[in-house]
Amino acid sequence: MSPPTISRRRFTSTLVSAPLILRAQPSSREARIKIDTERIIGQIDPKLYGNFTEHLGRCIEGGIFEENSPLSDKNGFRKDVMKAVEDLHVTFLRWPGGNFSSNYNWRDGIGPRDERPARLEMAWGTIEDNRFGTHEFLNYCEAIKTEPYLCANFGTGSWDEAQQWVEYCNYPSGTATSKLRQKNGRQEPWKVKYWGLGNEMDGPWQMGHRTAEDYGKFALEGAKLMKWTDPTLKLVAAGSANYGPGADWINWNRVVLQYLKDHADFLSLHLYVGNPENNFEEFMASSLELQNRTRIAEGIIRAAMSDTENRQIYIAWDEWNVWYRARGDKERGRRILEEHYNLEDALVIATFLNGFVNNAQIVKIANMAQLVNVIAPIFTSPNGMFLQTIYYPLQLFAANSFGNALELFVDGPTYASKHSPATPLLDISAAYNRGTLVLNVVNRSRYEVLPATFELEGGQFSAEFEVAEVNGPDIKSENTFGTTLVKTTHKSTQASGTRLRYQFPAHSYTMLKGKLV
Ligand code: AHR
Repeated sequence: MSPPTISRRRFTSTLVSAPLILRAQPSSREARIKIDTERIIGQIDPKLYGNFTEHLGRCIEGGIFEENSPLSDKNGFRKDVMKAVEDLHVTFLRWPGGNFSSNYNWRDGIGPRDERPARLEMAWGTIEDNRFGTHEFLNYCEAIKTEPYLCANFGTGSWDEAQQWVEYCNYPSGTATSKLRQKNGRQEPWKVKYWGLGNEMDGPWQMGHRTAEDYGKFALEGAKLMKWTDPTLKLVAAGSANYGPGADWINWNRVVLQYLKDHADFLSLHLYVGNPENNFEEFMASSLELQNRTRIAEGIIRAAMSDTENRQIYIAWDEWNVWYRARGDKERGRRILEEHYNLEDALVIATFLNGFVNNAQIVKIANMAQLVNVIAPIFTSPNGMFLQTIYYPLQLFAANSFGNALELFVDGPTYASKHSPATPLLDISAAYNRGTLVLNVVNRSRYEVLPATFELEGGQFSAEFEVAEVNGPDIKSENTFGTTLVKTTHKSTQASGTRLRYQFPAHSYTMLKGKLV
């Protein structure tokens, strides 16, 4: 396949899909990026580097939890997986679903493990043994030092169930429900702050699927009870996950916010992308879809909040990933949704992370779906594990991109995709934290090394910059047990005064990190 036709456009990092200034003649393939640490988009919330564990296939059982395995600790937690999760710097972890949450009764997953009931599980067509429940999940979060995020059952569940789950987890003592927690071995409450008001309630595939009005009314009463039980809660309303033909994405979000604008703190959105037509250039542009939906949702939120005072609702992209090969519809059972990722998937992941940083003013939560085995960066067998390609960009962002997201001026080459006539070949975000600058650059070109010069306003680059690059031999390269073709490599580069020039290799994600003086 020949390289796409390249033109050149100027844009700012937060406005890639807005109308742009087009130069008459392409001047060169060299990009020019201006950085000004006073041009702040917003504070980067560490919860952008969240993840998700669902009772689905081998995500939990056989993933993070494997009782009686020589690789597990006394709690049944896989130690090798736990190490990989810690190294990924998972800041925020969602559980128990997903679609699973819409038929989950939390009371089935407490008390002595051997006495817990096995239940038919209808989201994924299995039997749920409930050996991993609230205590196991919250203890796991404590062990890996991550903030938990529980998704309540607003499908088959009731207001009472949701309210009492909050009480079980967060109420100090003295009520039947908090005493039950204490009897089950946990004296002090966990104080779980983040709670979802159901999952993908706009989807016909969801148990308890409702119209926007019916969901809005139901969720409002649940939200009231939950916040009256613990006023410190932060609640996530189920926004629309259904963006395809016939779906009324905008209306769902608008109506739900009308009901929940005084009680919800986040609007949940989901996005999975793929490359079924094997078109690298189009696939690499799919983060523009994220940008577009983020912008639309931000406008809907602003409209909904225009008559409220001192309240803000943020966006929670609480499920996102590449997912198209192992869709799982015909493979109900244990080994489902086990996507094997390649380099191009990892690059798309890096562009999504750029998208979250570049919208840091409104996106405050993002959970890659999911953590282990099921559409996941970590892949296990009973004997070991390996890190999928998508692990590496998430790890680099989560370990480095903090502080203020900066708005950049970018003058660089572009190409036409179905998402935009001016898809930037270099997709960039910048984070600035206490004198340290982090630049995240994805070269969307399959063939070309692209040079870029960064120009700093009002300061100087320190001489040496750290370089971390995620790349591999080919865009289709995958990792597997014992073979790591795609990974992060480290080196350094030199900056000079107010200029930093770098040549970005074809099909790469590069992080440049250094001090400003
Ligand atoms: O992450 C897999 C599934 O995708 C989740 O259960 C559901 O919320 C979404 O449709």
